[in-house]
Amino acid sequence: MFVVLLSIHLISAAIWLGGAVYERFVVVQKARKVAGKELELELIKLFISTSRIFVPAVVLLLLSGIALTAQEKLAFFSGDWLGMKQVIMSLIILGFVFVQGPRNGKLSKQIEQDRQSGGIMSETTRQAFNRLYVGFDLIHIGVVINVLLAVWKPL
Ligand code: HEM
Repeated sequence: MFVVLLSIHLISAAIWLGGAVYERFVVVQKARKVAGKELELELIKLFISTSRIFVPAVVLLLLSGIALTAQEKLAFFSGDWLGMKQVIMSLIILGFVFVQGPRNGKLSKQIEQDRQSGGIMSETTRQAFNRLYVGFDLIHIGVVINVLLAVWKPL
């Protein structure tokens, strides 16, 4: 059972981080290069439409993490490496629910408006995307820290 749960945990983390790297270094870089063209708007729409991949990966990572903790008879929110991982994951989920989710929804509407008025990204939409993108960068730094904590187990 431990092997199954750990495999689900690791595959979910790989999907999350792999997807983030692809978006950050391929999709966003390409969008920057074509700023002012219709492709920019389509690429940013692609960026914000990938939640159907990320959300299941995050949910599976969380559930497998909880199951691993219970199975190994480890503690929740104690002062060790695992407690730190759990705190970081909780902050990430709160960030998703209260900041990134609403920003995503708002940006989606702005993109639709831009599409209907000629297909070129407006400055307001670009600034909204930049804010969203910084939020995701912070979240992904948290995911990398969690990988390091899990592998290193410093405390
Ligand atoms: C961004 C979130 C997370 C990432 C990237 C992550 C990553 C990892 C990685 C890479 C391992 C394998 C470590 C190894 O075998 O050397 C691991 C193991 C583990 N994770 Fe996570 N994890 C995350 C969230 C969580 C959460 C939220 C929990 C608990 C609720 C959790 C509980 C565990 C447990 C119990 C293990 C097994 C530790 C062991 O006995 O070796 N993880 N995690």
